[in-house]
Amino acid sequence: MEVVKTIKQVRTMVAEAKKAGKKVALVPTMGNLHDGHLTLIDEAKKAANFIVCSVFVNPTQFGPGEDLDKYPRTALQDQQKLTFKSVAIFFSPPEYEMYPFGRMQTTVEVPHITKTLCGAARPGHFTGVTTVVSKLFNIVQPDFAVFGEKDFQQLVVIKKMVRELFYPIEILSIPTVREADGLAMSSRNAFLNEADRTLAPQLYATLSSVKYKMLAGERDFNKLAADAKQRLEDKGFTTDYFEIRDAETLERCSESTSRLVLLGAVTLGQTRLIDNISLTLKS
Ligand code: PAF
Repeated sequence: MEVVKTIKQVRTMVAEAKKAGKKVALVPTMGNLHDGHLTLIDEAKKAANFIVCSVFVNPTQFGPGEDLDKYPRTALQDQQKLTFKSVAIFFSPPEYEMYPFGRMQTTVEVPHITKTLCGAARPGHFTGVTTVVSKLFNIVQPDFAVFGEKDFQQLVVIKKMVRELFYPIEILSIPTVREADGLAMSSRNAFLNEADRTLAPQLYATLSSVKYKMLAGERDFNKLAADAKQRLEDKGFTTDYFEIRDAETLERCSESTSRLVLLGAVTLGQTRLIDNISLTLKS
């Protein structure tokens, strides 16, 4: 694995790999790699034989007062974790390589869908994500890019961007990787104190209980979501949203929606956690 810091070197190495007939997959991350990220790499390896893992804590997707400064930066441990993963390039550019003209010059924005759910609570967040992901796509020009389903809205937004901007890239995704107690793996879990860490799996437990109610035939989505939100708050969560949406569009569901997603965003202490469960309802 080569640790690369410049766009020029990534481009040279990827061009050589493509010339040798290799398929290239990009796994974009912000580092502090956990088993969820390693599963993304495993998925990338099923599709491609030249893997680029980017590690860049992207400042433009953090709003004022968010955790950019304390976001864990663990480059050496991350490199060690990838040692036996046959990653070709560990791309960890400094900020001036990714934003040589300043943080917010040309941006890529996917409208509407980025204004709801996490986008409502974190204005500008998804513009930061789509801008940096576009930059990475243009730098690496991969055949495939792999994202986790834990960031469900991010995945839907990126798929839309790829479709509408005609990126010749296939987006792959992997289901959320969980701790033994159900908590979705996330770099931010490290910020939870002991009491909050004990409480945190209740988010997934609540999503699961709503899913089973829906599978058992309950269809009053507004009531199901409102009750779930209340249950989370009674347990001590500050709930940003608990929603049942169309899994393709993230719009509110209609009677004909069959692929749905339950999405929750909560805060425990200073830590924001998100999680989701998809399900298909027979019409
Ligand atoms: O999901 C993440 O870790 C980030 O949002 C991403 C896609 C690497 C962009 O910075």
